[in-house]
Formats: sequence, structure tokens, C-alpha cells
Amino acid sequence: MIPAEDLQCLKVIALRGGCKGPVFVSSQSIGEMLEISQQTASRRLKGLESQGLITRTIAADGQHVTINASGEEELQKEYQDYCRIFSERNKGYILNGMVVSGIGEGKYYMSLEPYRQQFKTHLGFEPYPGTLNIRLSSSSRPVRKKIDALDWIRIKGFSTDGRTFGDAKCLPCRIGTIPCGIVMPGRTHYPEDIIEVIAAVALRRKLGVEDTDTVTVEVGQ
Ligand SMILES: Cc1cc2nc3c(=O)[nH]c(=O)nc-3n(C[C@H](O)[C@H](O)[C@H](O)COP(=O)(O)O)c2cc1C
Repeated sequence: MIPAEDLQCLKVIALRGGCKGPVFVSSQSIGEMLEISQQTASRRLKGLESQGLITRTIAADGQHVTINASGEEELQKEYQDYCRIFSERNKGYILNGMVVSGIGEGKYYMSLEPYRQQFKTHLGFEPYPGTLNIRLSSSSRPVRKKIDALDWIRIKGFSTDGRTFGDAKCLPCRIGTIPCGIVMPGRTHYPEDIIEVIAAVALRRKLGVEDTDTVTVEVGQ
């Protein structure tokens, strides 16, 4: 990944047509478009050139710039990110289901420090040791399949005291206004229609729910 300011510079050159062939630019005009000084713009162009992202031919009052294949690739990557952000499939999913009890194993796994650390890093909260199990309604089961295709965060497994703990994956979500995460352990005895949700708080208590009560989990948006 290249620095954000280089990407911005590539973008303005591309907007002038720099992906198609040489375009005439001056560091003054680039500076104006990026709201930076002419000197900074000039340095940035040199930087792009030395990274092989553009090719320049200096003219009397400016330069002819072409974006190279590697420069175009950087712009493509950024474009892909925006496609993901705005694409329909990422527009938000609703999962409805009923609270069910487990046998308390979630509490054990969620107390293990290596898992906790990773959840904290990726979800931004210290998870409460325990998982809220939700049995999805029949109409939410197809939605559960769709969310499989989203970008889940990988939670890495580890070994300790001669025991191995498996990988899990995690997807940020919300119940009401509470930031949560759906956790899918790689090794689980649960069928596909049960999801496990974690949060910084004890969800049962916070939501005032018990077995058979319904809850709604929102993913995305
Ligand atoms: C972060 C995390 C990691 C897990 N890793 C494992 C594992 O390595 N091996 C395993 O048999 N189960 C693992 N589990 C799954 C539990 O066996 C089980 O499916 C689940 O957490 C049941 O919790 P409950 O009894 O409270 O409903 C993991 C669960 C979580 C939340």
C-alpha cells in the first residue's frame, strides 16, 4: 500500500486522463487540486516517479505524466475498496432469532487471553466472557448463508499447555445500539442455525432477555 497522499496525487493525474497516456500537468496545478503548495506537489510527483508509479517527461513549463501499470494497480485497489463499501451485498443484513442456552463452553473459550486480545484489537471492545446463543428463525437462515460471503475477521488459534485451540472468525454487528460481534468457531458442535454473539457487556442482562425471547442482530451499515 502506498501513502494516502501519493494515492491522492495519482488520482488527480488519472482524472486528467493520465491512465490513458501522457497528460500535461504543472506542479502548480497539481498543488491547487490537492490544496498543497507547489513545492510539495513537485516533491510528490518526483516521489511517484521514483516509486515507478508514473513516468515523466519534463517540458519548459510543466511536465507530461503517464500513470504506469503499477500506479494504475494502486488506484484499482482503492476502487475495489470503495466498491466493497458501497456495493449492495454489503448494505446490511438482519438476523432474527431466539435466545437459547448452551452448556457454558462459550464462557470458557471467551476467557482465554489470546482470543480476548484479538477480539479487543479487531472489535474495539473487551469482550464479556460468554456468548449469547441465538437460534435463527427460518427466514433468517438464508441471510446467515449470505453473510458467510462477507469479510470476516480471522481470529487465530493457538496452543497452550499441550492443547490446541482452533481458529475462529468474527463479524462486527449490532443488537440495538450495542456493538457486538458474531463469532464462528472453526470447531463447534453447533448447527448452522445457531449463532454466537459477543459484546463488551453481558447481553442477556443488558437486553433483559432469557431463553425463547427474540432478538435482532444487524450486520453492516
Ligand atoms: C472464541 C471461541 C473459540 C473456540 N474454540 C474452540 C476450539 O478450539 N475447540 C472446540 O471444541 N470448541 C471451540 N469453541 C466452541 C465451543 O465449543 C462452543 O461451540 C461454544 O462456544 C458453545 O458455547 P456455549 O456452551 O456457552 O453455548 C470456541 C468458541 C469460541 C467462542
